[in-house]
Amino acid sequence: MSERTIALVTGANKGIGYEIAAGLGALGWSVGVGARDDGRRTAAVERLRAAGVDAFGVPLDVTDEVGVAAAARLIEDRAGRLDVLVNNAAIAGGARQEPSRVDPATLRAVMETNVVGVVRVTNAMLPLLRRSRSPRIVNMSSSVGSLTRQAGPGAERTAGPVAVAYAPSKTFLNAVTLQYARELHGTGILINLGCPGYVATDLNGFRGVRTPEQGAAVAVRLATLPDDGPTGGFFDDSGEVPW
Ligand SMILES: NC(=O)c1ccc[n+]([C@@H]2O[C@H](COP(=O)([O-])OP(=O)(O)OC[C@H]3O[C@@H](n4cnc5c(N)ncnc54)[C@H](OP(=O)(O)O)[C@@H]3O)[C@@H](O)[C@H]2O)c1
Repeated sequence: MSERTIALVTGANKGIGYEIAAGLGALGWSVGVGARDDGRRTAAVERLRAAGVDAFGVPLDVTDEVGVAAAARLIEDRAGRLDVLVNNAAIAGGARQEPSRVDPATLRAVMETNVVGVVRVTNAMLPLLRRSRSPRIVNMSSSVGSLTRQAGPGAERTAGPVAVAYAPSKTFLNAVTLQYARELHGTGILINLGCPGYVATDLNGFRGVRTPEQGAAVAVRLATLPDDGPTGGFFDDSGEVPW
């Protein structure tokens, strides 16, 4: 087995995921670039390799059960284990997300990718993570999933637009992550949630104010936690995000 730390980042072909892959690669790690589109994945791997990263492509659509199992086999064949999983892939679900008007299909699609997809990938990778000396899981969430912020008096300023699919998908992901933290307690697997801040990416039509590299920093930090680091936490660059 390779001594080099092995990581997998889902949705790593662009945006924050690409910069997480670049940031982990800059540590000298071998980074699996999880992406569903062959062309976009190959282009990202080539760009990362040109920047000196030991990157390899992992065909991965988080909604595809068979494909996710194949991704786990690919990593097993290549490295025999996985040290760090970053569940970054997500969709926003489009603009029309007032609760009174939403198409139930939008709700289903967003939950399938942002929540079920994370569970599917995590469970496929857990046997490989259990073989690592310092396994870490980072789930990319958002402060718009914070019920404290959504319910607070300043929600118009701090909780993003009304979005009945996307925001609750991150609340759901936060709750799911806590369940994993409880189940995995004592195994050495640390699992935490990261909020990248408001980042200019495709997800928000590039309206964000932070760069993808800035957004990636919290994930890199949570991926490199020491063995006595936190688990079951929700963090951004400033510290803990309220639930
Ligand atoms: N941007 C922000 O301000 C912000 C704020 C808070 C949290 N976040 C979170 O940060 C993470 C990254 O978002 P981003 O802003 O970088 O978004 P992005 O630029 O839209 O990138 C999303 C990535 O997820 C991939 N993806 C979507 N559905 C997938 C699927 N079914 N299987 C595999 N990959 C899939 C996309 O692949 P394709 O290229 O194939 O579509 C893309 O690589 C997300 O979890 C997001 O919720 C972002």
